Amino acid sequence: MKTLITAGGHGTRLRPITHTQNKHLIPIANKKMLAYALEYSKNAGISEAGIIINSGDTSISDAFGNGESFGLKITYIEQSAPLGLGHVVKIAEPFIGKEPFIFYLGDNILVGGVNKFIEDFRSNRSNCHLVLSKVPDPNRFGVADVKDGRIIGIEEKPDNPKSNLAVTGIYLYDNHIFEAVNNIAPSARGELEISDAHQYLLDKGYIVSFSEITGWWKDTGKPSDLLEANRLVLDNIKDNRMGTIDSSSIVSGRVVLGKNSKIINSNVRGPAIIGDNVVIDNAYIGPYSAIGNGCTILNSEIEYSILMNDCKISNISRRIEASLLGNDVHMLRTKSKPATHRFILGDQSRVEID
Ligand code: TTP
Repeated sequence: MKTLITAGGHGTRLRPITHTQNKHLIPIANKKMLAYALEYSKNAGISEAGIIINSGDTSISDAFGNGESFGLKITYIEQSAPLGLGHVVKIAEPFIGKEPFIFYLGDNILVGGVNKFIEDFRSNRSNCHLVLSKVPDPNRFGVADVKDGRIIGIEEKPDNPKSNLAVTGIYLYDNHIFEAVNNIAPSARGELEISDAHQYLLDKGYIVSFSEITGWWKDTGKPSDLLEANRLVLDNIKDNRMGTIDSSSIVSGRVVLGKNSKIINSNVRGPAIIGDNVVIDNAYIGPYSAIGNGCTILNSEIEYSILMNDCKISNISRRIEASLLGNDVHMLRTKSKPATHRFILGDQSRVEID
């Protein structure tokens, strides 16, 4: 079995971060989002992964190379434009060949990996196996209509959902999915929709089975989803303190502290992860914070936030909370007069101040 992982798309909901980087490289608990999908694949005994990338995007191959460090052989497949998930499957046919495969949307994060879904797919001997998750707001998702352990219909964002089972971004297929994606037409938004391919399989009488996710799952489309995924991953981290903590600091709960990092006269409350070469000085780092490598946090407080690498936060009086900061972001209190706010913000930046 091979794995097909998406790392293309528009990423519009994660702007401005995605103006300068592919969303699949955004760190969740200090690990690139796509690394989770690669690790789950490896742990499921898969040795070959195809990664879909936008045309001309070299950032993903720069980050993951030939896959050796994950124990995988990675093939990069360029998509001419983000023409839909059905299109993704269609262009992957030469890579997949005839064997069954797992199709994994690279912006999905879940706990516990994918082994169980592969086992369920095999034991069901179905043509298509969808992974479902109970959600409180099914009208935001593709929703499965389930009868006698089989999926009999899927409705996209229905007003009156037939169940609370959302279709997640993990799918298993045999080669009939290629017949489906080659026989569907683009939707009104011009994309080959994967849900239309699933409906095609149902209409043609192919067997569509499912597994239900019992742990948590997150589709990280929006900034708030990234913070939630970060929280959920941090909930499972183990304490590992490699840096130094001075005697006037208090570090409680499970905290990962990277190499050459220093906590000075500060209070760090886990679960939290702090990268390498970080300085936390006279500061508070609260639960569910992920601080990237090379950051400096001085006389400031941070909680439930993601800071990418090389950020500098200094003398900010209000606690920074539920925030997502890109690489090399500086947030400093000016010492000179007049005491004004001074911003250099890229397109679609968001700032909330009182
Ligand atoms: P989406 O989250 O549906 O779309 P997006 O990533 O373009 O984001 P936004 O809606 O904010 O603009 O995509 C799901 C996954 O599939 C994600 O990993 C991106 C990927 N994708 C492709 O690789 N090619 C495509 O044609 C599409 C539509 C998505």
